[in-house]
Amino acid sequence: MQQSAFTKKLMHWNEVDNNRPMPWKGETDPYKIWLSEIILQQTQVKQGWGYYERFISNFPTVQDLAAAKDEAVFKLWEGLGYYNRCKNLLTSARFITKELNGKFPNTYDDIVGLKGVGPYTAAAIASFAFNLPYAVVDGNVFRVLARVFGIDTAIDSTKGKQQFTKLANKVLDTNQPGIYNQAIMDFGATMCKPFAPQCHICPLQSTCVGYQKGSVNLLPIKEKV
Ligand code: ADE
Repeated sequence: MQQSAFTKKLMHWNEVDNNRPMPWKGETDPYKIWLSEIILQQTQVKQGWGYYERFISNFPTVQDLAAAKDEAVFKLWEGLGYYNRCKNLLTSARFITKELNGKFPNTYDDIVGLKGVGPYTAAAIASFAFNLPYAVVDGNVFRVLARVFGIDTAIDSTKGKQQFTKLANKVLDTNQPGIYNQAIMDFGATMCKPFAPQCHICPLQSTCVGYQKGSVNLLPIKEKV
């Protein structure tokens, strides 16, 4: 399948069929995106939703978060676990406020330099907030690309990570990287699901290698169980 055809079909699906409301969707304030992505690192959308809203209403700006008492922030984080995320939020909010005059970093390299921000989170912030052409590569992206392009390289191998990252960036819509990144995640979460994928109504069915070969439910491959 032509990669540009994949991108086109995905973006079309996003425009006409994607119906997945989430409070951070379409947001372009880097602080709010950063907060949502840190919450979603180890938390499901359904659980993270309320936490995100409470954080934003208690701390509407990065300066508000930076000025908060540690205890108040940890209290609001209660129930989410992985408290290092919360510690890093506070450290980075204070760093941005004090050292960067409250201006959120606006390049991929500076964003990925923040504590607690890895390549996935940096690509999400860079594309959603600054429209920079970095493809997100998360579990949804691995699954969609493995199935549509029929790739059986293990996603947890070094080779697989490189191969999928390269392909993800090749099929990225560089005109609208933020919209594209959210679209492929939503497509993976609602159509190309881990179990019971919606192939019968999928707009990519006719060009999906996994579907044609009957291997959708075998992909993606993992080395370790
Ligand atoms: N998981 C991580 N980031 C996400 C996002 N922006 N939307 C949905 N799920 C996500």
